[in-house]
Amino acid sequence: MDKETVRDIQTKDKRVLVRVDFNIPLDKSTGEITDDSRIRATLPTIEHLVNQGARTILASHLGRPEGRVTEELRLGPVGERLSQLLGRPVRRTRDCVGNEAEKAVKEMEEGDVLLLENLRFYPEEEENDPQFSKSLAQLADVYVDDAFGAAHRAHASTVGVTQHLPAVAGMLMEKELGFLGKALANPERPFAMVVGGAKVSDKIVLLENIMKEVDFLIIGGGMANTFLKAQGYNTGSSKVELDHLGSARVILDKASKNGVQLLLPTDAVVAKEFTRESEHKTVPITDVPDDWMILDIGPETAARFNEELNKCKTVVWNGTMGVFEFPTFAEGTKSLASSIAKLDAMTIIGGGDTAEAIVELGLTDHISHISTGGGASLRFLEGKTLPGVEVLLDK
Ligand code: 3PG
Repeated sequence: MDKETVRDIQTKDKRVLVRVDFNIPLDKSTGEITDDSRIRATLPTIEHLVNQGARTILASHLGRPEGRVTEELRLGPVGERLSQLLGRPVRRTRDCVGNEAEKAVKEMEEGDVLLLENLRFYPEEEENDPQFSKSLAQLADVYVDDAFGAAHRAHASTVGVTQHLPAVAGMLMEKELGFLGKALANPERPFAMVVGGAKVSDKIVLLENIMKEVDFLIIGGGMANTFLKAQGYNTGSSKVELDHLGSARVILDKASKNGVQLLLPTDAVVAKEFTRESEHKTVPITDVPDDWMILDIGPETAARFNEELNKCKTVVWNGTMGVFEFPTFAEGTKSLASSIAKLDAMTIIGGGDTAEAIVELGLTDHISHISTGGGASLRFLEGKTLPGVEVLLDK
């Protein structure tokens, strides 16, 4: 990576503002943390700073409170979990700037860790407001960005603050950019990208960019319906993005011109309605009945995808193969996940729903890298520059 990192700078006795992405999933009814991967992923940076004798000031957003104080989105439970994981107290403030935050920072000693309140309680955060950026920067001597998951956002805490403080990458940021960067710039071949998820419109730029790099492009999930329709198949009552049939055709055409093997489902699990308990059956892709919808890839498709993946040395996966939250339509995703977990290859999961599926299936330890950034990894794989990375000091 061509950016300075937290290991390149002296942090002893310094006040270090660390932007982390503690935007973690919470149970809607209990408010409990359902997946703490993003907290765990920042431990190397925080532990490094603690061991160096820094005063570590953590800042994060949680959810989308739209500039208003929202009790359910306070960072209390996150602070508690972090404290358990670190095995040391983590003090919290109920504001992220102003008197209370400043006082708490003044009282810090070497090795202390402080967690500021949700940044997005201020509309100025997302507006990248210069005054708000300055107030945040005032708390510290140096800035470390370890929030890969928020690096595609040009906000006060990811971009504005770097106008006032020397800014370097944290270890998670370094790791994320290392894995994703290697996959794009120097992959061991054959290289496959597996793309799924609901909508093709979200992934067109990704498909166009990745087309230049991959040997296999494997497409499943709801987005495959638009490709199938573009090829003339009957997709029944499945969701199809009719205004993107043209883009799907362009991608199919480019793949064949570039010598990329593009694989689509050859069978599917279809359902009468979009519900957990819906009546369902497996059919060849040529036989999707008129009033049924495709909710998962079928077993023949999964076997074919897995067979090609077995040949690969680099696999990047973004998007589930079916409606994973309904157990009946989770089999395609499960089958691919367990086969990818067994590969002797560099395997990367591009965050979001796919990462949650891998965690739920207990396969975390069998994947080379699970990105903590859904949107950010998508932007990176689209070949875009991430604003939160661009502003960090070059080596
Ligand atoms: C994410 O969960 O992708 C990041 O934390 C960014 O969150 P946002 O989409 O609300 O900006």
